[in-house]
Amino acid sequence: MSAPKPILIDTDPGLDDLLALVLALRSPAVDVRAITVVAGNVSVDACTANALRILEAVDINPPPVFRGCAKPLSPSVTRAEHVHGDDGAGGVSEAWPVQHLQIESAHAVDAMLDFARRHPGELTLIALGPLTNVAMALEQDPAALANIREIVVMGGSGDGRGNVTPKAEFNFYSDPYAARAVIRSGLPVTAVGLNVTEKTLLSRARFHERLASMEEGTLRRFLFDATGPYFDYAMQKRGRDACPLHDPLAVGAAMDPSLIRTQRMVCDVVDKKGPDRGMMTAEPAGDASDAPTMQVAMEVAAERFLGLFLEVVCG
Ligand code: RIB
Ligand code: CA
Repeated sequence: MSAPKPILIDTDPGLDDLLALVLALRSPAVDVRAITVVAGNVSVDACTANALRILEAVDINPPPVFRGCAKPLSPSVTRAEHVHGDDGAGGVSEAWPVQHLQIESAHAVDAMLDFARRHPGELTLIALGPLTNVAMALEQDPAALANIREIVVMGGSGDGRGNVTPKAEFNFYSDPYAARAVIRSGLPVTAVGLNVTEKTLLSRARFHERLASMEEGTLRRFLFDATGPYFDYAMQKRGRDACPLHDPLAVGAAMDPSLIRTQRMVCDVVDKKGPDRGMMTAEPAGDASDAPTMQVAMEVAAERFLGLFLEVVCG
């Protein structure tokens, strides 16, 4: 097996972020060098506590965790407590208090840039929340951020669909200024959007069946407790007892790029108030195109990804 791919994860834990972090932390294919936290699904403090919580539940030698931006660059704030619970952890935070881990003192944006400078051309940055931290890093030191080998973003959609509005996906809707800055930066961005993540539906029954065969321990109990409300919300919202693995697929695409097929596109994000706020547009990049382009995931090997996810997370 080749050496694990060194990665940084920028995240707004949230329940699918927690599943993505477990996938990355238990996978031999990637080496999580650092976790940076951004406000998104819930407040940055709640997201930060959830990152520490999942590190304690996974019980490995933890990567450093850095607290990042508390507010979007865009003028208004959008949260998703109705999906992830007020605490971002399905309401289990009181039953699962952070025991001993602490965050680093540096700001997430400074840490992201420092890692990029110290490991030129090596690191893959996986962004699982609003792109506020990444956009701030881009603004603060674009030359340093250009050292990042690839930026895999869970956000937008290759077919214009949305989950906050009919046209806008949550991460891009939450901070469209930041999303637009990053996807038009010319950096090597790959967008893993709703058009593929919504095909990776994990049913509660299948997840619980695999949890049941998992060795007894903290992680199994935490995953069982925390994910209940995520399935409940999916059932209430879509009438199916299965949830899309949005953030885990972005990690999966970094672990095994063959899981997705991408197309080089010229993209934009609507950063104006109004019905199109946060909408991502994507046009195939012509050869003559000199506009900044990025890769957009257009197809996914969904069942192969679900099998990989369950194998790594549940053992
Ligand atoms: O639209 C899905 C994305 O928004 C996921 O990253 C989820 O965690 C929320 O942040
Ligand atoms: Ca997320």
